[in-house]
Amino acid sequence: MSSHGDGTAEQTSSSVDPSTSSDTEADSGDIFTVTIGATVPTGFEPTAAEEVQEKIGVDARISKDRGRIYFPITTDKLFQVHLLRSVDNLFVVVEEYDHYQFKDSKEDTLLELQQLASKLPWTNALQVWKLNRTVKKKKGHRKGGNATKDKACGEASEAAAAAEAEQQEEAQEPSPAEGDAKAEGVPESQARQKDAEEASHEAKPLRFRVTCNRAGDKHSFSSNEAARDFGGAVQEFFQWKADMTKFDIEVLLNIHNEEVVIGIALTEESLHRRNISHFGPTTLRSTLCYGMLRLCKPEDSDIILDPMCGTGAIPLEGAIEFSNSFYIAGDNNDMAVNRTVNNVCHIQKRRADKGSTSGLPIDTVQWDLCNLPMRTSSVDIIITDMPFGKRMGSRKKNWDLYPSCLREMARVCRPCSGKAVLLTQDKKCFAKAISRMGGLWRKQHTVWVNVGGLHAGVYLLKRTAAVFGQTPEDIYESQRMVDIQSHDKELS
Ligand SMILES: C[S@@+](CC[C@H](N)C(=O)[O-])C[C@H]1O[C@@H](n2cnc3c(N)ncnc32)[C@H](O)[C@@H]1O
Repeated sequence: MSSHGDGTAEQTSSSVDPSTSSDTEADSGDIFTVTIGATVPTGFEPTAAEEVQEKIGVDARISKDRGRIYFPITTDKLFQVHLLRSVDNLFVVVEEYDHYQFKDSKEDTLLELQQLASKLPWTNALQVWKLNRTVKKKKGHRKGGNATKDKACGEASEAAAAAEAEQQEEAQEPSPAEGDAKAEGVPESQARQKDAEEASHEAKPLRFRVTCNRAGDKHSFSSNEAARDFGGAVQEFFQWKADMTKFDIEVLLNIHNEEVVIGIALTEESLHRRNISHFGPTTLRSTLCYGMLRLCKPEDSDIILDPMCGTGAIPLEGAIEFSNSFYIAGDNNDMAVNRTVNNVCHIQKRRADKGSTSGLPIDTVQWDLCNLPMRTSSVDIIITDMPFGKRMGSRKKNWDLYPSCLREMARVCRPCSGKAVLLTQDKKCFAKAISRMGGLWRKQHTVWVNVGGLHAGVYLLKRTAAVFGQTPEDIYESQRMVDIQSHDKELS
């Protein structure tokens, strides 16, 4: 069991011991509508809703519980949901209550949660969970498939094509054994053995756990108690086997003040880990990178710079998802540059294994951002995650770093059309640095996000028409930088 938070927000998983079990029959041939819930980076809920509308064609509702969205799908669209770039975790909703009236006493509330387990409309959500296992299994098994038709496509569309084809094949397949053997190109005897293993596993009782996420200060119970009592009732109702670590099915009990949502998880691991194999101390979630990229709206042939790339999470996500632009990833730290190169190579290899011959539109360089080896006005978009001065750099150093890097960014960025999307938690220092830029940058929009529990800002800046190096503040600032540098030289 685990629990976190400040007393008003916590998460707990619970399972209780099994007796016997029964599985739920699912008829994956039926198409019906269900509600999908998705956790997304806090602050980027509207961006995620926009992506859902764009890619699945439905309106998403943003939950008042920050960091979640909900949208309806028909079950034949399930594979598309896994291809969304802004979602971390996915679940199918069993039931939701906007204004759940919790009883006054803890005992009564927990008793009611126990009684709820047997009253919930589980059938459709369980069918989706079963179908989801097939979709994920099929995607995982198809190695090197669809290579020719996917060559020109991005990774997401390759996966979409493969998954869609698989879901269509599903209806016509005589048996799962034949289907898998075909997709993988493995000998039939091996496929039969694999199927036998899976069949024997499926004959065993289903293993489950309940995870309770609770936020709100008016509850008389803890997430522990809710997960334990609700989990006990779920186990009794389905006769499933409880297992905290090796579970087949995870039931979610999400409680936010008086909103209660019961769901079944469709992802085992957050989708934000998709691109990175070589992690660094401050690797940014790919889902957050996607949100930042969408904010600056990359266009075809744009030159996009991440001058403090760390592990390359931002430019990698860009090169995969907005692949008609070209990305330059740089950092002054050789370990960071190596990690980026390794991450790029890893993705290239994954693509090559799938039969793709197209490379990623990205280059990696070691440089000092305050002195970029690039022409003035040669970059369309700068997108970066600046040192917060906590785990990376220091607050003190930021007072020099921020103004000098904002100036250098203004030099290389195209006047009038250029943009910058910058993430930082050092808001005071950032605001001061911007005010000293002599009008080279104009702040357009700020998205407040949560990065590893820290409240940070994603600032969308527009490069104004001001000519670099000619405004009074600019001249003053440039002289100040020269003074600082010569002072540093004298000291060393
Ligand atoms: C917050 S981290 C970036 C993390 C990155 N977004 C990722 O996902 O891994 C900031 C990076 O800025 C780099 N950095 C700091 N000062 C720099 C400078 N003057 N020039 C270039 N890079 C710098 C650090 O080495 C560090 O990798």
